[in-house]
Amino acid sequence: MILVTFSFGVLADELWEVTVTTVALKDVTKVFPDGTVAVDAINLDVNDGEFMVLLGPSGCGKSTVLRMVAGLEEPSSGAVLLGGELVNDLPPRDRKIAMVFQDFALYPHMSVGDNIAFPLRLAGVDPAPRDEQVAGVASALGIGDVLARKPSQLSGGQRQRVAMGRAIIRRPGLFLMDEPLSNLDSGLRAELRAEISGLTRELGVTTIYVTHDQAEALTMADRVAIMRRGVLQDVGTPTQVYGRPATLYVAAFLGSPRMNLLEASVYVHLDRYVALHLGDQALYLPWNDIRTRAVAHYHGERIVVGMRAEALTPVSPDAPGDVLRGRIRYLEHHGHESLAFLDIGATAVVVDEMGGPADSGSAEQRGRRRLGQVVQRLTGRVGEPPAEPTPHDRRTSVLSDPGRHHRRAAELTVRLAPYPAVAAGHPLAISVRMDALHFFDERGDRIDVGWR
Ligand SMILES: Nc1ncnc2c1ncn2[C@@H]1O[C@H](COP(=O)(O)OP(=O)(O)OP(=O)(O)O)[C@@H](O)[C@H]1O
Ligand SMILES: [Mg+2]
Repeated sequence: MILVTFSFGVLADELWEVTVTTVALKDVTKVFPDGTVAVDAINLDVNDGEFMVLLGPSGCGKSTVLRMVAGLEEPSSGAVLLGGELVNDLPPRDRKIAMVFQDFALYPHMSVGDNIAFPLRLAGVDPAPRDEQVAGVASALGIGDVLARKPSQLSGGQRQRVAMGRAIIRRPGLFLMDEPLSNLDSGLRAELRAEISGLTRELGVTTIYVTHDQAEALTMADRVAIMRRGVLQDVGTPTQVYGRPATLYVAAFLGSPRMNLLEASVYVHLDRYVALHLGDQALYLPWNDIRTRAVAHYHGERIVVGMRAEALTPVSPDAPGDVLRGRIRYLEHHGHESLAFLDIGATAVVVDEMGGPADSGSAEQRGRRRLGQVVQRLTGRVGEPPAEPTPHDRRTSVLSDPGRHHRRAAELTVRLAPYPAVAAGHPLAISVRMDALHFFDERGDRIDVGWR
């Protein structure tokens, strides 16, 4: 019965006051009995009323974090604080938390109204105020007209709303949602994600929302926390993590099309410029720009240069300035835009791992391995056939996402007009906005330059 109640998203048996909760995780680690380090020394603060999204690939530890906040899993070490109070030993039912899961279940034999009212009935609320609350919540969720139906008579989106209604009806202090939209089609997802973030903000309920969908994270979150293999990579507003990703992994994970990541050799020409050699071509950072000094430290070494599609503009072949030239390998038409995949004779950097097998070993060993594995190179020179990913690569590459934009052999993804006047095989010159470049060292850590 307790498990059934959990899947209903109700973790307490008395009616809660409306409270606002903060969440703090201090060095929280979870090692499962089989040695799996699911969560590795995470520090995270969620503010009053904040909508925090936990983002990361499958297996990175998102649900484990959520379950520790809910009290369904005990941390191996570290502290979980709710509203500033240590709750490591507090049972789930005393935490004033509501949870919605991906595989939520409704009582099939009960009407929609009774499903939503269920937590209130458990709490002994009288029928009149109960009905009033149910009507209020149902109308907020746009399901006021289906209260008399059974769950089997609802669409997937309506069912999801019922589950949400049942979770929020008790005004939890904290709302935990674990991929609640992942069973729905993309149109409905987009609709419901706007509703969910709108509703939780309206209620002022602190929310932690888990997803592996970066677009969902960027559109819904006040702040996003990006995890990889149990390790927190970056935390910030969508603008911060997108515009200034802390690691190569975050850079590769956020955005569509994915950020172009190229290997560059750095050569400092004193008092003139810092040259970034990308295969046979080069880009030049002006020497008199103080911001380029951080890059100059890597003289004679290789770094990773990241360019999002929005930093790249097609120009005429003889255009001066910061221009890269290449040949279109192929085009993809997406209706509102086209994407050109351009050979520029540079080396693409492939970020390792997108939900690979769980790591084993100590946190320290894993940390060392993590650093060693961040950067994996692929050579794909012009004229050579695209490198075929090995089965291992396919499993571990961050670019192995089956999503529409994945083309690892192409070295530069460029946005073009919906039906451009160019075709595969044509040469293309691309102007590069130098102040929109991202730089990462070989370990995948951001090289911070002054811009942005
Ligand atoms: N009870 C358990 N015993 C051992 N290992 C576990 C247990 N539960 C989870 N794990 C492992 O811990 C890691 C993190 O799991 P978790 O469920 O938190 O990932 P997740 O980020 O939620 O993934 P998904 O997006 O697929 O739901 C995984 O490697 C998983 O196999
Ligand atoms: Mg999960």
